[in-house]
This record gives sequence, C-alpha cells and structure tokens, in this order.
Amino acid sequence: MKMSGLGLTFLTLPLVIQASTAGHRRKGTGIWCYDSQDLKCGPSHWKDITQSCGGDNQSPVNIERKKTQRDMSLDEISFEGYDQAPAGRWKLLNDGHTVTMNLDGASAAEQINITKGGLQDTYRALQFHFHWGDVNKNGSEHTVDGHQYPMELHLVHMNTKYKTVNEAKGHPSGLAVLSFLFKVSVMDNTNYNTIVAGLRNISHEGLSVDLASTFPLSNLLPNMGLLSKYYRYKGSLTTPGCEEVVVWTVFEEQIPISQSQLNAFVSTLYFTTGAKPVKMANNFRPPQPLRSRKVYASKDATISDSPPLAASLLFPLLLAFLTGHLSGLC
Ligand SMILES: *[C@@H]1O[C@H](CO)[C@@H](O)[C@H](O)[C@H]1NC(C)=O
Ligand SMILES: *[C@@H]1O[C@H](CO)[C@@H](O)[C@H](O)[C@H]1NC(C)=O
Ligand SMILES: *[C@@H]1O[C@H](CO)[C@@H](O)[C@H](O)[C@H]1NC(C)=O
Ligand SMILES: [Zn+2]
Repeated sequence: MKMSGLGLTFLTLPLVIQASTAGHRRKGTGIWCYDSQDLKCGPSHWKDITQSCGGDNQSPVNIERKKTQRDMSLDEISFEGYDQAPAGRWKLLNDGHTVTMNLDGASAAEQINITKGGLQDTYRALQFHFHWGDVNKNGSEHTVDGHQYPMELHLVHMNTKYKTVNEAKGHPSGLAVLSFLFKVSVMDNTNYNTIVAGLRNISHEGLSVDLASTFPLSNLLPNMGLLSKYYRYKGSLTTPGCEEVVVWTVFEEQIPISQSQLNAFVSTLYFTTGAKPVKMANNFRPPQPLRSRKVYASKDATISDSPPLAASLLFPLLLAFLTGHLSGLC
C-alpha cells in the first residue's frame, strides 16, 4: 500500500480502529494478530502486549543441526492412546487464528498421553492445531537449517502433575508440545481427508464442526517407527502470552500432504472478523533468537557435520597426554 504524507494523516484514525477489531483479545492478553491480517498487531508488536513475548526463551526457533548436541537419554517417546480412535465426537474449531481440535473432553480411560523420551513427567494431550503459509509461501514456525516447511502441526500436552492449564502455565515444564513439519506430496494424504473436508464448515471465527468420525491420532503423524528422530529444547508458546513453559519436541520425519489439501487451509478459512474478512494465511510466528539455549538431538536424530570418530577418540588421549605432561612440570 502506497500513501502520501497527507493520506497517512487521514488514515491514522481508521487504521487504529481497524487494529482494535481485527485482532483478538484473550483473557489477560491484549489484541494480537499476524502480519498477514494487520501489520499493526503482528508478531513484532506482541512484546508490547505481553512482556513475556520479548523474553529470552521464545519459540519457534531455527534448528541448526550441526549446532545441536546429542543427548543419548532422548530415547523413544512412549505414545499412549495415540493408536485408538476415541469414542464420541471430534470438534474442529476456527478460533480466529488457526484451526484447532480439542482432545481433552474424553474420560480418564481415554486420555491420550506421552511419557519417556527424556520427559520427566507424563503429559496429557489437550488439543492440536496448525500453522501454514499461503499458496506461494511456506508457513512452518520452526525451521531446520534455515529451511521453512509448508505447514506445521502442534500437539499440545499438559503435565499431569498440574490440575489446570493455567496452573501448568506457571511452571517451566508445564506443557509439552510435539511439532511435526509437513512436506508436499504428489498424492493426497487420505488420513487428512476428514479434517480437510471439515474446513469449509468453519470458514469464520467461532464456527465449529463435528467431524464425521474420530480416528487414531497416529493417523495424522508419520509412521510411528520413524519418530525416534527428534530435536528437543525449552521454549514458549508461539502465540501471546508466549509463556516460557514448553518442552518442545520437533520431529525430523515430515508429514506428507498434497498441494490441493494445503490449499484448502489457505483458501477456505478466514481470520478473526475485522472491518473486512481476511483469508487465514501465513499464521506463523517467525523464528526467535536461541540466545544461550541449546537444542538437543535425540539418540537417532541426524546431526550434520558431527565430528569424525577419530577426532572424538583422539581428543581425550591428547588431553590425558597434556595433563600428564603438565603435572610432570609442576
Ligand atoms: C493416560 O494417563 C492417565 C493418568 O495417568 C491414565 O488414567 C490413562 O489410562 C492413560 N491413557 C492411556 C491410553 O494409557
Ligand atoms: C518450501 O517447502 C517445499 C517443500 O518442502 C520446498 O521444496 C521448498 O524449497 C520450500 N521453499 C522455501 C522457500 O523454503
Ligand atoms: C458442512 O457443509 C456442507 C455444505 O458445504 C453441508 O452439506 C454439511 O452438512 C455440513 N456438515 C456439517 C457437519 O455441518
Ligand atoms: Zn502452534
């Protein structure tokens, strides 16, 4: 949009009004949005709304694989209930920022959990949602070696030590989010048909649809046998209030989805209703500085440029030699 100096003055008032309607207010949080919706409340402004969005441990991040640190205690995550279709209904909701599926209504017997894989506690699945780009642009939140992927799935879990989400948000390991990146495939991923078909019933904020059927959560993921390769770090929620309470797991194996299935997300949905409806696209936060944090690589994850075996064997020998030598000197 081009504006003369004069035009800008006249436009200031309407823009301010628009900003207050286009965004979304959540309890305890100011108005926020994505740049694709309105530049006035996009990610660069979130820290003005909620101080923690400007913190030192924010998400997402770029995972630089050669800088990750191998952690042999990061073994296979144990997925409980991921292979069963829950009884009852699954409700898909347009919350004005993304499409989200609530998983937490089920009875205790049907709770879906994750444990092990370096997690100190059991975490219960609460919901999943997506972040995506547009027809010409990738839209994942996490990037790997600077590479952004077309879409990202977040499965949000809560530490079962806590009673409520709000309580969990008060503790540094209160939440665990599993993140899966997508890749474009030639064929449709038929396991996504039910979700994709439901999108047209929830084009606007607040609309929800009961999916025709439930299915095992594992249907939405890559082959479970490939999930021992992942990256782990401590970060935050990627939307305001950006609470720094998330144990992140970003999987190496990607989920295939066809271009036409991706396009259904981009072209069917609308953001929070403002002055005029805006297509829900590019609803991702860009990578945040890693600062002093480390990203850990699981036992099986790929670390490019890992030091050759000879160097890792010789170094301790050299060190032993030098220490011996030095102590001889003293
Ligand atoms: C998940 O954990 C809860 C509480 O520990 C338990 O009751 C439930 O059976 C677990 N779910 C599965 C599928 O194992
Ligand atoms: C977007 O993702 C696709 C599929 O993974 C990839 O081929 C392409 O290089 C990506 N584009 C950018 C700009 O990263
Ligand atoms: C979804 O919308 C279609 C029309 O676009 C309609 O036929 C169908 O009944 C709707 N489904 C539900 C569950 O509301
Ligand atoms: Zn998310």
